[in-house]
Amino acid sequence: MTGAAGFIGSTLCDRLLSLGWQVRGVDAFVDYYDVSIKRRNLQRALRCDAFQLCDADLRTVPLEPLLDGVDVVFHLAAQPGVRTSWAEGFAAYDDHNVRMTQRLLEAVRAQPSTRMVFASSSSVYGNPPRVPTTEADPTRPFSPYGVTKLAGEHLCRAYSDNFGVIVTVLRYFTVYGPRQRPDMAIHRLVESARLGTPFTLFGDGSQVRDFTFVDDVVAANLAAAAAEAAPTDPVNVAGGSSTTLLELVNIVGDAVGQPVPVEWLPAQPGDVARTGGDVHRAASLLGWSPAVTLEQGVARQVEWHRATLV
Ligand SMILES: NC(=O)c1ccc[n+]([C@@H]2O[C@H](COP(=O)([O-])OP(=O)(O)OC[C@H]3O[C@@H](n4cnc5c(N)ncnc54)[C@H](O)[C@@H]3O)[C@@H](O)[C@H]2O)c1
Repeated sequence: MTGAAGFIGSTLCDRLLSLGWQVRGVDAFVDYYDVSIKRRNLQRALRCDAFQLCDADLRTVPLEPLLDGVDVVFHLAAQPGVRTSWAEGFAAYDDHNVRMTQRLLEAVRAQPSTRMVFASSSSVYGNPPRVPTTEADPTRPFSPYGVTKLAGEHLCRAYSDNFGVIVTVLRYFTVYGPRQRPDMAIHRLVESARLGTPFTLFGDGSQVRDFTFVDDVVAANLAAAAAEAAPTDPVNVAGGSSTTLLELVNIVGDAVGQPVPVEWLPAQPGDVARTGGDVHRAASLLGWSPAVTLEQGVARQVEWHRATLV
């Protein structure tokens, strides 16, 4: 598991451990956000004998020993976030999302029995011509972050086509739930409602997002790892809850029981108008479809904020 201390990675770790897997988790504890949050994410996993933590940077660490005995590589390590991927910020995205993925693919190539599941993103679509967007629709990223995730996908394809590396690309649509990154909208909304501090809303609030609950993303990863024939084309992993940001402000306010104070700021470069994923391919190739509605998922995230954050 790469990116094991992150939001989604740590949740996937816990699930794999509960299913009896042996998990080797790798994370460099990158300070994109407070690293004490990442340490907290791993508390449960670290209590488990079947979990081994490697505090290592995948851009430089020797990979062969890390992959020794590994059946499945869940590759979630990345520099996330759209807004900081412009200007000089881009170098980190290139390094962590493109070069690191290529380095890992080289190592996986040397172990033909190992398969990989790659965490890609709906950001590869940019502003899609239609919603719900299918995997056959054009990819035209609207941000440098999206460009690096698409480059990662193309690298997976090139290693698969040339060397037979077994790799499944999952395109996650905005993921939320317990442990969500503090820079993400639902996390910021819940904290604003709880503390009565303003939520900075970029744009006019009409932007639509397809939100996917983290347990559903975990289930899609498990299905990809177990699939007898690993899909060779990318697969959308979307929650099916296309909602405007303004609607979301109300949903979170209702779940917390207090309204969200909003401070309006102009739209940010790279933010797309609309995302929404068609999940027919996931259903037919992986037997996966989302199970958690936005209202249920937000309630579970609010519960986590109350239990975990001061
Ligand atoms: N959260 C979402 O809504 C979303 C949507 C689409 C795709 N994704 C993808 O899912 C994956 C996980 O996202 P997340 O939200 O959990 O992010 P996250 O930042 O919480 O987790 C990523 C982890 O990777 C680690 N990492 C980064 N570079 C590393 C390196 N060189 N070596 C070792 N570890 C390194 C970080 O320290 C971090 O803990 C990412 O690949 C992201 O692009 C996330």
